[in-house]
Amino acid sequence: MILRHLQLTNFRKYRSARIEFPAGLVGIVGPNGAGKSTLFEAFAWVLFGNGMSRTGGFGLATTGSRPREPCEVEAEFEHAGEVYRIVRRLTGRGISSWAKVHRGKTLAATGPIATSRFVRQLLGADARTFLRIVYCRQGEVRGLSGDFPTRRREVIAEVADLGLLDRVLRQVREDSARFPPGPTESKNIPDDLEERLCEARLRIRSLRREEAEERGRVESKEPTLRKLQEILAEVALLSRHRAALQPILDRGEEDFGESLEGVMRRWLENRGRASALSARVAELRRMKVGVRGTSCPLCGGPIQREELLGRLSREGDECGEELRRLAREERELSELRKGAERMRDRRKAQREWDGLESRRLTLEKRAAEMKGVEGEIRLARDRCQDVQRQIQEWVGKESAMRTALDWARKRSANRRGKLLHRLAELLEEFRDALLERARIALGDPASDLLELATQGRYTDLQLDRDFRARMADGGRPFVLERFSGGERDVAGVALRVGLSRLLSFRHPAEFLILDEVLAGQDRSRRRILLAALFRLCPPLKQILLITHMEEIEDSIPAVIRIGEDENGFAQVLAPSGCDR
Ligand SMILES: Nc1ncnc2c1ncn2[C@@H]1O[C@H](COP(=O)(O)OP(=O)(O)O)[C@@H](O)[C@H]1O
Ligand SMILES: [Mg+2]
Repeated sequence: MILRHLQLTNFRKYRSARIEFPAGLVGIVGPNGAGKSTLFEAFAWVLFGNGMSRTGGFGLATTGSRPREPCEVEAEFEHAGEVYRIVRRLTGRGISSWAKVHRGKTLAATGPIATSRFVRQLLGADARTFLRIVYCRQGEVRGLSGDFPTRRREVIAEVADLGLLDRVLRQVREDSARFPPGPTESKNIPDDLEERLCEARLRIRSLRREEAEERGRVESKEPTLRKLQEILAEVALLSRHRAALQPILDRGEEDFGESLEGVMRRWLENRGRASALSARVAELRRMKVGVRGTSCPLCGGPIQREELLGRLSREGDECGEELRRLAREERELSELRKGAERMRDRRKAQREWDGLESRRLTLEKRAAEMKGVEGEIRLARDRCQDVQRQIQEWVGKESAMRTALDWARKRSANRRGKLLHRLAELLEEFRDALLERARIALGDPASDLLELATQGRYTDLQLDRDFRARMADGGRPFVLERFSGGERDVAGVALRVGLSRLLSFRHPAEFLILDEVLAGQDRSRRRILLAALFRLCPPLKQILLITHMEEIEDSIPAVIRIGEDENGFAQVLAPSGCDR
């Protein structure tokens, strides 16, 4: 490939510029920030689209330009004997883009996506690969020619795009560290353990619901049961009370003779008569004492003494006899009274008994109504116990399954950890193998390029197993430290360009951009390197050497000088002194 020209409109620092590029070694010179790298960015963007800009589609248009002003790049290049012209444009604040590509005078593709696809097919590389082949960044040549084999390894890995592999490897290592070592021995664990565990959990949950329902049923019936028990206790009490009354009731009414009122009346009459008689006896006694005087105590006449005394004595005796009879009668009445009193108690007892009996009947009726509840509660309790037994059983099973599953998980984690560890080893081996292939394959193109660059002074450049570069002198290989700085830089360029050749398997690398590879070199080293680069064209058709070191202008005939105009926009200060 040879880049013929770039036309930038409103692209980053470039308001409007057309840059013609000659073939061969071309210096692109200008101070830092002048807009040198922007040129390569514009070329990559026109080829592959927004993915190739540093900021995607945004920020490409020149700062301060109006939204309606399009940001556009046109590139013309030669490739495999044909001339191609691509135009790509951003519109509407960089949101949409437009592109087309011509092969010669024929329109080959239109639209941003079709254009990018066309370029990918034409160059046989996607944007990233193209970038790695043609664009050699600051530090890469140094890294390949420097003193540190590891750095050389890194640069090769980077340019050969093993970074993705490295990232995967890092991830796999991190993942494998997350699986701690676990059990390794084999145990017979059913495949469907997880489902079984899930089923067990569901079963336990449903059993617990069932248990709660049964318990609720028992609880709802318990007040009725308590009431029933109270009733039955009361019935028992009533029965006891009734039993206590029974002896009284067992005796018939006839056992108690006449009524208490009759007895009491008679008893009072008896009492009245007895006290009247006692009073008469006392009077008779007094009269007897009076008879012992002169006159009759009754009529005051003369007393016939003996006859009167006899009368009084008879009456006294009769009274005494009557009193004794009354006393006997009173004793009998006393007995009768006791019986009559008991009779009154019996009636009371009968009334009480009747009350108790009616209450008992009522309660028993209620108890009979409630009787079913006992059975229901018993049934519910039995069911509850049965469910509890089942729950225990399932809880035991569940816990055993959980333990087994936990064990299986640990074992599987252990296996995964080991697999990941193995994968990391394999990836590492794979990466090393790729690197090893690159290392060996690099020898040939690097030696060819070295021979060319040094005009046959050195012809053999190889990397040993440790990625130490060895350059042969007089048939014997030596480490690079043995050679001069300039020679080492040339070896570095040979390795880097050799790497590009390895990567561009479809078309040999013929276009190269070296961005600030001269930085930090003294004059003589720069001279040696520039001479080597000259010698590499051909076979390379074009090398764009980007540098801020303006003094190289003297050493390279074709130089494009980039600077700023009075408004601070980038511009080409000196047109190329083409040397095709
Ligand atoms: N959209 C833009 N409009 C104007 N200037 C821009 C824009 N984007 C980047 N720049 C400027 O371009 C310069 C970078 O150009 P670059 O080509 O990287 O410089 P160098 O010559 O050192 O390679 C910076 O000064 C940056 O601020
Ligand atoms: Mg730059």
